[in-house]
Amino acid sequence: MTITAETTRAAGETAIIGGTGLTELEGLTVVDEQVIDTPWGAPSGPVVRGDFRGHPVLFLARHGHPHRIPPHQVNYRANLWALREAGAARVIGVNAVGGITPAMGPARIAIPHQIIDYTWGRGHTYFEQVGGAMLEGVTHIDFTFPYDETLRQALLAAASRRQVVAVDHGVYGATQGPRLESAAEVTRLERDGCDLVGMTGMPEAALAAELGLPYACLALSVNWAAGKSDHIITMDEIAQALAEGMSSVKAILEEVIPVLKTP
Ligand code: HPA
Repeated sequence: MTITAETTRAAGETAIIGGTGLTELEGLTVVDEQVIDTPWGAPSGPVVRGDFRGHPVLFLARHGHPHRIPPHQVNYRANLWALREAGAARVIGVNAVGGITPAMGPARIAIPHQIIDYTWGRGHTYFEQVGGAMLEGVTHIDFTFPYDETLRQALLAAASRRQVVAVDHGVYGATQGPRLESAAEVTRLERDGCDLVGMTGMPEAALAAELGLPYACLALSVNWAAGKSDHIITMDEIAQALAEGMSSVKAILEEVIPVLKTP
């Protein structure tokens, strides 16, 4: 069976994919929770449809709620498909990352503009046969600019209105995980031009592009990447930076959701 992107419905809501530290969206009045079966398998959990201060929004916890699915085992294909089927017109992916370049220290927010994919073995495209399903159409989508510029600018403007410092660029290096990197790997990422390193940015961004869904990443640095500080990375420091930075993430989401208009 080949399927077209039009097999699914686009009603026009903003979808948030919550990453580590954001398994639920505070302030969201849940209208319903939809368990959506997709041709690509099961998503990480139900798609939560809710009302966020008077605005419709969709929410999906990337790692499940509670957090249980490691980055390399997330069914990114099913997640994006389910969001689109639920009516998403655009997607904001919230990602915890490690900071590589000086501006990207712990608790700093960045809205990356580019990405390099170092992941492997993940279901990374709709243009292959999976359980009898395959997306019809142009196989080689353009990915010159992986993030939607309108959505990026909306996130930056929202941050600025809430006096949150957000770095308005950055190359996201997407690694396989679930282990963190060696110092030498981070040196290589930096040589490649990466400012941030995370495990969940890909194939999410590319799958959104294959579905024609505008996508942007709201990244929160939760540690200096390996070798970029004088100590090894601890879960305690990650938890501390998450606690510190998540209020900024939430402030940006609160501010941006109302301005993203339903077409
Ligand atoms: N590396 C990869 N992924 C991450 C990191 C990191 O240092 N911090 C949070 N996610």
